Amino acid sequence: MISKRLKTIAKFLGDKKILADVGCDHGYLIIEGFLNYNLKKAYAIDNKEKPLENCINNISKYDFKDQVEFLLSDGLEKLTDYVDVIVFAGMGGQLIIDLIEKDFHKLNDARLIIQANRNIYDVRKYLTELGYLIYDEEIVQEDGKFYEIVVFEKTDEAVIYNQNELFFGPILLEKKDATLKKKLKKDLDVLENIPYKTKEIEEKINLVKENLW
Ligand SMILES: C[S@@+](CC[C@H](N)C(=O)[O-])C[C@H]1O[C@@H](n2cnc3c(N)ncnc32)[C@H](O)[C@@H]1O
Repeated sequence: MISKRLKTIAKFLGDKKILADVGCDHGYLIIEGFLNYNLKKAYAIDNKEKPLENCINNISKYDFKDQVEFLLSDGLEKLTDYVDVIVFAGMGGQLIIDLIEKDFHKLNDARLIIQANRNIYDVRKYLTELGYLIYDEEIVQEDGKFYEIVVFEKTDEAVIYNQNELFFGPILLEKKDATLKKKLKKDLDVLENIPYKTKEIEEKINLVKENLW
């Protein structure tokens, strides 16, 4: 059963046709992309044999299996063909940044859909400084956890985001997203319950309070 998180990521495939799913694991995102979106081709990428085997087994049950190439690869290293959308999901933000940096020339003008388990601030900062704009964002709550999904598009215009936008997401803030509000309240609760508060924690508390509506 595909999760709400993966369904939301898939929604951002929109009308894109050629996907690279980096860290594909089970392959559910690719399956959703063929069944419910316009995918014509996908590259299922993982750097470990077990998850990639799992992905091959799951995808081999479908008619579109011949439209999927499986790459045992560290990030985009083994990808040689053009893709118009790349997903990095379920990995830490720093790993995603490292993988992008390593094979930056392969991104071309592909849409990037990113769901980082940690350090989404760093990902927003890194990519927007590289000439990407934040095209859309969504935050979902599932099994008590919050997942932010951020969609980046290459742009020639200079787009500058402030610190608050990089932390909480310019579009999520603009939308006054109800799930973001829930997350911020939860974060605030956790921070305020820390018995001994360092300067850094106090600063975080203020940042969250300033952005709560
Ligand atoms: C937690 S799973 C996430 C799976 C799926 N993307 C999702 O969001 O449900 C992370 C996957 O990324 C893979 N991975 C970790 N580092 C990687 C790398 N450097 N290159 C490719 N895949 C990697 C892992 O093997 C694992 O299958």
